[in-house]
Amino acid sequence: MLVPRPARLTRHAGSCVPTGILAGPGTRGPARLLSGYTGLPLVHNGPVIRLARKPGLGPEEYTLEVTPDHALLTASTEAGLLAGVQTIRQLSPRLPCLTIRDAPRLPWRGVLLDVARHFMPLEFLREFVDLLALHKYNVLHLHLTDDQGWRIEITGRPRLTEVGAWRAESMVGPAGSGVFDGVPHGGFYTQRELRELVAFAAERGVRIVPEIDLPGHVRAALAAYPSLGNRPSVALPVWTEWGISPDILGVHDEAFAFCRDVLDQVAGVFPSPYLHIGGDECPTTQWETSPIARRKAADLGVRPAELHPWFLGRLHDIVGALGRRAVCWDETGHAAGRLPADLVVTAWRDAAHGALAVARGHQVVMAPHTATYFDYRQSEEPGEPPREPVTTLEDVYRFDPLAGGLPVSDGTTPGVLGTQAQLWTEHAPTPEHVRHLAFPRLCALAERAWSPPGRGYAEFRQRLTGHLDRLRALGALPKERVRFAGALGVPGKTVP
Ligand code: ACM
Repeated sequence: MLVPRPARLTRHAGSCVPTGILAGPGTRGPARLLSGYTGLPLVHNGPVIRLARKPGLGPEEYTLEVTPDHALLTASTEAGLLAGVQTIRQLSPRLPCLTIRDAPRLPWRGVLLDVARHFMPLEFLREFVDLLALHKYNVLHLHLTDDQGWRIEITGRPRLTEVGAWRAESMVGPAGSGVFDGVPHGGFYTQRELRELVAFAAERGVRIVPEIDLPGHVRAALAAYPSLGNRPSVALPVWTEWGISPDILGVHDEAFAFCRDVLDQVAGVFPSPYLHIGGDECPTTQWETSPIARRKAADLGVRPAELHPWFLGRLHDIVGALGRRAVCWDETGHAAGRLPADLVVTAWRDAAHGALAVARGHQVVMAPHTATYFDYRQSEEPGEPPREPVTTLEDVYRFDPLAGGLPVSDGTTPGVLGTQAQLWTEHAPTPEHVRHLAFPRLCALAERAWSPPGRGYAEFRQRLTGHLDRLRALGALPKERVRFAGALGVPGKTVP
């Protein structure tokens, strides 16, 4: 009945209907959260759920013992207690008698949400964070900037949000469709709003890893400040298309001062030990023709295309000087020894790149597009988004981030830190679209991230049935059938 499945669970006869929660020393935060979920008051006696700190368990490990007259949740850490709180939340209100000893398989259990392609209201971000916590995810990777929108307020650079947060319209259908909707789109978050979101997530054991995508995917920033790029005299609107824009940052002092300032402010908002610097899909054609970039490359003794790893190395140093670890997307060749080994790699192309990065000494978040890109359609049903290949619930369930016997990183050693789902939103303009893409595939990936290797897809499907009722009750599933603009499989047309 639980999703993700606990590492060890023994069912006993009977059940317990607690009437209160007893918070032991050092457990008030998780106890209050549980009280909010269950409606049970914080009390001192009666058939209670008692929360207690107990030394000797792992960093996110917990134990739960339910007998007919009480329940006891123990963990060494707040993270362990919070994981147990979500288990109790799923079991409530009538707790079956049982013994659970549970701990995650992987330390990084993440979900990327792209709020750059489509702005998502804060209220939905809170709902989404809470649903991640329900599935024992502990990372929300927030993709805050891209060609089509800049979504975070930066003090002293007002045009990033006055100009960069708004676009005139959006492409309909896949990249290159040539069809547009004619509807302006935009929005941004103030630093104060994001700080509040960070606190809300932290109460649930979810860390927000912010991404500022650099040095490519910056067209919205260039629309605000053209001098950051390679063609300062060319005015560029915020991009209305999907795909890969050739417009990238320049390699001059102004561009690096911008990166330093933005990352410094981002670090001030997000206490996460990790900051994501992007690094993906950066065509270097503009550097090949820019006199400044050509001179820089010559000074360094490299070809202009090789300025890309050099640029990421500089961003790595900026992030390091802020006392944080830099994370970047893995592009072909990045893992090949040209980047500092302590740069964490999000391996998105395929699992072999992830394995190569591990072999080169990196810590890797396994995010191969074939299994973890939830913007891909999940069936051949009409109305599914125009992204392929079809990635079914079963495909996600069958994905193993440790395939081939890859080692798990302990946060210092090379290996797999974890895995994460990607919710890119080119084709998902509303929270309803995101809900459709996310569920139930997020449930399957949660099992891969948290649970020991499974008992098979059929067993998971069985547990999922009850879990979907739970998600429906929480409003996590779309209320009606969602259709995606430009959908494939709609007979006789590919775009509306
Ligand atoms: C990516 O899909 N460009 C990370």
